[in-house]
Amino acid sequence: MPDTKTGKKIADLGAVAAGLAHEIRNPLNSLFINSQLLEEMLSELPEGVAPQKEEMLTLARANLKVTRRLNESLSAFLRFARPPAMDLALVDLNRVVAETLRFLDVDFSYHGIDLRARYHASSLPLLADEKQLKQALLNLLLNAEEALDKEEKVIRVTTGVRDGRPFVRIQDNGRGIPRADRRHIFRLFYTTRREGSGLGLPIVRQIIHQHGGTISLRSREGAGTTVTVALPFEAQFRAMFPGRLPLALPAEAGR
Ligand SMILES: Nc1ncnc2c1ncn2[C@@H]1O[C@H](COP(=O)(O)OP(=O)(O)O)[C@@H](O)[C@H]1O
Ligand SMILES: [Mg+2]
Repeated sequence: MPDTKTGKKIADLGAVAAGLAHEIRNPLNSLFINSQLLEEMLSELPEGVAPQKEEMLTLARANLKVTRRLNESLSAFLRFARPPAMDLALVDLNRVVAETLRFLDVDFSYHGIDLRARYHASSLPLLADEKQLKQALLNLLLNAEEALDKEEKVIRVTTGVRDGRPFVRIQDNGRGIPRADRRHIFRLFYTTRREGSGLGLPIVRQIIHQHGGTISLRSREGAGTTVTVALPFEAQFRAMFPGRLPLALPAEAGR
């Protein structure tokens, strides 16, 4: 644990970083839009007008790709530095998981991924910010997808109750995480992927902790990774965060 002085310095640095990211955002946006326009204009040039048309197009497309990635990293970082307020409602974990999986359906089947989902027989009522919870699940599912390195690609998703708490488990048969890397993976900006941002897991952890949940990970190098997210039931959440909620919340049925 950092002492309070160091802790404050870190907090200050966080604020400076967030401010800087904000400053960069608008010019980066112009750069992105300009690259888009340039790419369009170049591709519409009639043949023979500019002999270097193809080369210029390649450069414009490379710029577009880099600025898009920068934009995504910046948004993710700002989201982490200034997490949005929790918009809590009563939701069913089974439905939230099913809807997140449906969102990835096309992508998974396109990549030949065998998705096996198993749901707890009855609904799992939670107090959650549905959008944020889906974001966390999506980050975990994308990590699982990106780790798949074998001919047979399998992602298993299971919901259930253990030790009196609802959980969702995401299991992949991908490359696994080397033991020495395991303590780094939740660190901000830590990534082993060429196009990674290292923001996925820090955001997941932030969201799960805000929901009073825990995240645990088991991995075997070469064999795969299992991530388990456990969350409090509605009643447990109310006991954990008394006063945080209005008594009446929008009901699942009405959403
Ligand atoms: N399911 C997984 N299988 C193997 N490695 C993983 C898995 N999930 C996360 N990792 C490792 O943790 C790192 C950090 O993940 P993350 O924070 O989502 O950032 P990113 O996906 O941008 O690299 C990844 O680069 C990867 O090395
Ligand atoms: Mg990721």
